[in-house]
Amino acid sequence: NDPVVAIVGVTGAVGAEFIATMDKRGFRVGKLKALASARSAGKTVSFRGQPVVIEELGEHSFDGVDIALFSAGGGISKKYAPIAVKAGAVVVDNSSAFRMDPNVPLVIPEINANRIRDHKGIIANPNCAAITALVPLWPIHQKNRIKRVIISTYQAASGAGAAAMEELVESTRANLNGQVFTPKVMPHPYAFNLFNHNTTVDPETGYNDEETKVIKETRKIFEDEKIAVGVTCVRVPVLRAHCEAITFECEKPITEDQVRAIMAQAPGVKVVDDRAKNYFPMPIDASGQDDVLVGRIRKDLSDPSGHSISMFVAADQLLKGAALNAVQIAELLPQRVMA
Ligand code: A2P
Repeated sequence: NDPVVAIVGVTGAVGAEFIATMDKRGFRVGKLKALASARSAGKTVSFRGQPVVIEELGEHSFDGVDIALFSAGGGISKKYAPIAVKAGAVVVDNSSAFRMDPNVPLVIPEINANRIRDHKGIIANPNCAAITALVPLWPIHQKNRIKRVIISTYQAASGAGAAAMEELVESTRANLNGQVFTPKVMPHPYAFNLFNHNTTVDPETGYNDEETKVIKETRKIFEDEKIAVGVTCVRVPVLRAHCEAITFECEKPITEDQVRAIMAQAPGVKVVDDRAKNYFPMPIDASGQDDVLVGRIRKDLSDPSGHSISMFVAADQLLKGAALNAVQIAELLPQRVMA
């Protein structure tokens, strides 16, 4: 029998992509349970041409469910993921609630699919900025250990949900019409502006939560507590797909040709690196694509020892950064009936 799949947060930006990704990849679903808040209960979503009535998430939502995909925020995951596990479901959680729990595998299938079998009911989907950096860095790290990496992000509105995407569009329109727009979702004006990532800033360290997630999750996923990670996370007025400038230093010398050759073979990576045409990874090209686009591969001139490389990457935050990675994990579960 095909599995019963629940989507928690089905009306959200990631929720919509769970449905689209399962459809696109031919993920077999016996029955879909569409779950969201009371606000959405009774409305419908379309799955494989059929309307599915949205139910309000509750204590009994997971009875009979085999696989539950969560993307409704950390608070909802904390409360309902254990309930889903008790009901017999395997949870793939897109929130940060369980990522650093030592009993919860934190999985990017291209890197550590082997960890899925350790799960005790919950598997965590990593932070989107971490996934975007780590998919291309992993094959390099395996050949020539990365000692230190510095990441600067250019993060899209999609990472903050559907309401933030709407706010970007509405505030841009208001700006162009000469109207005053008061931000409701984001902490600062978003149109024609950019700002520090909208997560809490640690008063001691000065790092925002997103940055702390990237540092901790890199170490957990790479199983390398010593890798040094420096990161600055910024929200930019792009609707969808994150970009990152990445500079890394390896244990042994490394050339840009070596990195290019590794990237050409790397799963989940597409090289976009045309110097003559000045054509490199852009969010507009990454949007709707499964691969992490990698380009601007070049020697880091600030390290004359030849151990360091800089590059620029772009990935669809809603796909590889969220829904696609989660569905890839679900595809590897035994609950899944292979097509
Ligand atoms: P709803 O649309 O009913 O509010 P996004 O990440 O795009 O902001 O989406 C958040 C998702 O989480 C939406 O599907 C939203 O449903 C859902 N959600 C928010 N609060 C709750 C809640 N209390 N119970 C269930 N789902 C929730």
